[in-house]
Amino acid sequence: MKTDSGQTTSVWMATANVPERQPLAEDTRADVCIVGAGIAGMSVGYLLAREGRAVVVIDDGPIAGGMTQLTTAHLSNAFDDRYQEMERVHGNEMTRLIAESHTAAIDRIESIVAEEKIDCDFERLDGYLFLPPGDSIELLQRELEAARRAGLADVEMVARAPIDSFDTGTCLRFPRQAQFHPLKYIAGLARAIERLGGRIFIRTRASEITGGSFACIATASGHIITAGAVVVATNTPVTNVVTIHTKQAPYTTYVIGARAPRGSIARSLYWDTLDPYHYIRLQSEADSDVLIVGGEDHKSGQAKKYEERWLRLEQWARERFPMIEAVEFRWLGQVMEPVDGVAFIGRNPGDDDNVYIATGDSGMGMTHGTIAGLLLTDLILERENRWARLYDPSRVSLKTAGEFAKENLNVAAQYVKDYLAGGDVESVEEIREGEGAVIRSGLAKLAVYRDETGALHKRSAVCRHLGCIVQWNSADKTWDCPCHGSRYDAFGRVINGPANSDLEAVEE
Ligand code: FES
Repeated sequence: MKTDSGQTTSVWMATANVPERQPLAEDTRADVCIVGAGIAGMSVGYLLAREGRAVVVIDDGPIAGGMTQLTTAHLSNAFDDRYQEMERVHGNEMTRLIAESHTAAIDRIESIVAEEKIDCDFERLDGYLFLPPGDSIELLQRELEAARRAGLADVEMVARAPIDSFDTGTCLRFPRQAQFHPLKYIAGLARAIERLGGRIFIRTRASEITGGSFACIATASGHIITAGAVVVATNTPVTNVVTIHTKQAPYTTYVIGARAPRGSIARSLYWDTLDPYHYIRLQSEADSDVLIVGGEDHKSGQAKKYEERWLRLEQWARERFPMIEAVEFRWLGQVMEPVDGVAFIGRNPGDDDNVYIATGDSGMGMTHGTIAGLLLTDLILERENRWARLYDPSRVSLKTAGEFAKENLNVAAQYVKDYLAGGDVESVEEIREGEGAVIRSGLAKLAVYRDETGALHKRSAVCRHLGCIVQWNSADKTWDCPCHGSRYDAFGRVINGPANSDLEAVEE
């Protein structure tokens, strides 16, 4: 489904509203300032507020207006980069902590839902990991053994997943997974934060963040927040210019939602082992279910024919779930893939000790975001937490040196390619209404969007983070940076970091 501005909208955006709030209108102080009102920021804010800390949460968009509204909200400890791979990279002890922390995150969400009486469709269910045709069962066997060594004793191999319309073949069953409606959950957290004395300001961009004896956050509207600590939970940090962005890579992932007769598909989470993999769940509405299928990931800003990915997902879904009706929802999101599979949650490398980040959510944003709440609360309150070393943003893993080199060579290649290549089109006449293209103008490159009335909107195509050339994303009507994941709307307004300012205006 598309909004008026051309952007896609998720099942969640169509079925729930998060509460509106006001922008920050004066200087203020807090114990902790949290930048980013998505799952990570709101979890940190809630847990600190429960501990009696005065928190301020700010976001440059609405509450949960970033990737949190675009997730499919699988709450899972079936680690998507596989336990067998985590054992190789991180060793047995750390792999046990991965399983423990994701399990604890699901449990904590469940307890928050109960304590705060959040009506967010939370439910426990099983998850099934199955093979695509032709893959060896040995992969599942190895994963089963690794998951059990990681402490997930209840994982078992079963003959097939409980889907009548197609035979998954042998698969792994992960019990006690969960799902929820992410926006309803975040709305509940917002109410709870405010009941506990916290404050939330939206449409308030942090233009400068500095740590020190007091953290200082300057907003784009000219106000100052001083705080004992600051948490940057902006999906990918807007405060860390280089270090973290060499250790994670942005991938765009696609989702469709199609209505299915109520009860025609067994309620579980399902994932296959393809790379990129498919992920499947159901969301119930008044008199039908919505089958939600995701996949078709690619490195952000490095694809063509974006819309075809939704069509391939639909074809894949129809072959396996013939009962689905029209596809009513299409959307896409971006996940930050850490080179070693584990999120970065802790002190910001190279910064003052009271500046914290949460990023690298991989395909597990809801549990990683909740882990951020638990871990950062302990760090800020100077309590021991045994997950701290696992998630330390400063860690270096020599076992992932190959992946690290591959992703950074890819970024280097983008600089060379983008600056040497011509534009997407020779002249603005070739740009159709509702479309955009990069065009060369002398030595410069321009990001040119032609709106539905035919008017042209020109911006510099140089990303405001580290200068790569943005690419037009025809599916979401955005400008996506192929280097570290910054995204801008069709008019050049930044909607995703690490860039923290809009594409530059150009002289006509
Ligand atoms: Fe780093 Fe664009 S996101 S250069």
